[in-house]
Amino acid sequence: MARFFVTGSSDGIGRETARQLIAAGHHVVLHARTVVRAGDARRALPKAAGVVVGDLASLSQTRDLARTAADAGPFDAVVHNAGVGGQLTDRTPTTDGLERIFQVNVVAPYLLTAIMPTPKRLVYLTSRLQSAGRAHLDDLQWEQRDWDGRQAYCDSKLYDLMLALAVARLWPHVITNGVDPGWIRTRMGGPGATDDLPEGADTQVWLASASEPAALATGRYLKHRVEQRPNPQALDVDLQSGLLAALDTITGVQLTS
Ligand SMILES: NC(=O)c1ccc[n+]([C@@H]2O[C@H](COP(=O)([O-])OP(=O)(O)OC[C@H]3O[C@@H](n4cnc5c(N)ncnc54)[C@H](OP(=O)(O)O)[C@@H]3O)[C@@H](O)[C@H]2O)c1
Repeated sequence: MARFFVTGSSDGIGRETARQLIAAGHHVVLHARTVVRAGDARRALPKAAGVVVGDLASLSQTRDLARTAADAGPFDAVVHNAGVGGQLTDRTPTTDGLERIFQVNVVAPYLLTAIMPTPKRLVYLTSRLQSAGRAHLDDLQWEQRDWDGRQAYCDSKLYDLMLALAVARLWPHVITNGVDPGWIRTRMGGPGATDDLPEGADTQVWLASASEPAALATGRYLKHRVEQRPNPQALDVDLQSGLLAALDTITGVQLTS
């Protein structure tokens, strides 16, 4: 039995990832945005080892979450799954004054990664739409451009992949990969999505728990267990370093190598 932490496991792909890991006999700690959602998660997955709570749209709650989750560890793998889509029609700052999609999808996994004890494996959820992302390190908060929620989501998924590949480079002892789960029928994916929920969790479960050599390589972007070609910007070490420096400045927490 191994130990896992899955963010955003009250619903969708995260809950299915946790469900598959629990069904395989593992110890899985869930994460929910609120106490109410934690109750929902617990009812959906009663065999989970526990649920930790924290709104990733809040820096202070994300810091507290990192500490609570650390106390519930150590973990063999952490799956950074939680995320919001690009449906916001206006730029919506959080109480920290950050653009919401960027904070939930990018700042939060960075902060959790930097604060929590290092697991043996890390998985970051990105998307096929990372290919349409454009790195704007000079305007991460969408203060200088007209708002485009879909583009903000694409950019956030590019940043997630940049984060995964940067962590893989800085922490060669941690097996770290980014995953496009496919187009999955969830609240975010919508009813018209082409792929089933179990398929959307399969690669993350495999990367987090399998012992076969193909699951143990680091620094890759995968879909359906197969390595894909990432957006070239995700591979750009200068851009990766610039993103980490910006996240360090925003959070006051450095990702130490
Ligand atoms: N579905 C797809 O087709 C697809 C495709 C490519 C990539 N992805 C990625 O896969 C991941 C999961 O997507 P999904 O389709 O499963 O989405 P989903 O059904 O909307 O579930 C998202 C999960 O993240 C949690 N979450 C959202 N905002 C949060 C916040 N501020 N604080 C804490 N938790 C928060 C949600 O909690 P609540 O339920 O309480 O809001 C929920 O548990 C995301 O990173 C997404 O970008 C999905």
